[in-house]
Amino acid sequence: MSPLTASATANSNIAFIKYWGNCEPKARIPANGSISMNLGGLETRTTVTFDAFLDSDDLILNSQPVGGAALGRVSEFLNRVRRLAAINHFARVESENNFPMGAGIASSASAFAALALAASTAAGLELDEFALSQLARTGSGSACRSIPSGFVEWQADGCNPDSGAVSIAPPEHWDLRDCVAIISREHKPTGSTEGHALAYTSPLQESRVAGAPTRLAQCREAILARDFATFAEITELDSNLMHAVMMTSSPRLIYWQPTTLTVMQAVQNWRQEGISVCYTIDAGPNVHVICLTSDVELVAARLRQIAGVQDVLIAYPGGPARLVLEHG
Ligand code: DP6
Repeated sequence: MSPLTASATANSNIAFIKYWGNCEPKARIPANGSISMNLGGLETRTTVTFDAFLDSDDLILNSQPVGGAALGRVSEFLNRVRRLAAINHFARVESENNFPMGAGIASSASAFAALALAASTAAGLELDEFALSQLARTGSGSACRSIPSGFVEWQADGCNPDSGAVSIAPPEHWDLRDCVAIISREHKPTGSTEGHALAYTSPLQESRVAGAPTRLAQCREAILARDFATFAEITELDSNLMHAVMMTSSPRLIYWQPTTLTVMQAVQNWRQEGISVCYTIDAGPNVHVICLTSDVELVAARLRQIAGVQDVLIAYPGGPARLVLEHG
């Protein structure tokens, strides 16, 4: 019998059309579809071992044992895998991010994508890419977009319970770069899961969701046509709409810091100068500044000159979640 162990890696991703709010929070059925790019160079590597001698699940993150809510969320996810595979062993989960912890980069997407692939393989399940994406979604919504390659759409028509993500273009389709301007390394006070639950307390959420299919189509077409001008307008609009919902939720969520706004304004000025550049912001103060590879040195250098920008990480369009074949 082959050992019940497997290792996998997955990239983080940045959404251009955002996921915010659920139709069904537990299964993470999103209120609207989203589009993202995998962030090559920012990845999580995870090994899962189901072991008959364990008397609980163990989680080791960047070489440190972790308990509490983080372990609870992983155990709940493993329960789903155990049910699907009809096994009942507990598991040891060892996970490492190659990007600095606390750098404010979303790690739940890469974490649950790598966990979905490693755990399902270790348990002997042979899931196709879409089924794997659906499984990853149940751990963290955005993780379903880190399973397929390159530019990815998470389809979500009418609260479809079978929602999952597919690739719409491979990484080499468009030579974009994401310069992540790190403004704070602090842990955010309200995580995404809590934030999603507040989305419908905003009077703006319904209209944001109603307009999502149009923005998804515009963004998808702009990516396929490599039309940066349209892509920039729709990406910034969608990010601003999500933050408008956050700011008008009850209680309100304001993730921006003064430097966030400084970077947003600088990016708009640079675009007016003729540089192909735009911004998008997740549930935190850091700004993802998207540009063409030809401008990446210039954009990163200008970002580093802004007071309050602590660091700039550069990511490229990344591939799919992959197994690491060392356990034979
Ligand atoms: C603002 O996927 O982190 O980054 O499903 O509760 O884990 P959970 O939420 P998560 O939400 C991501 C929100 C976002 C936008 C996006 O990535 O689409």
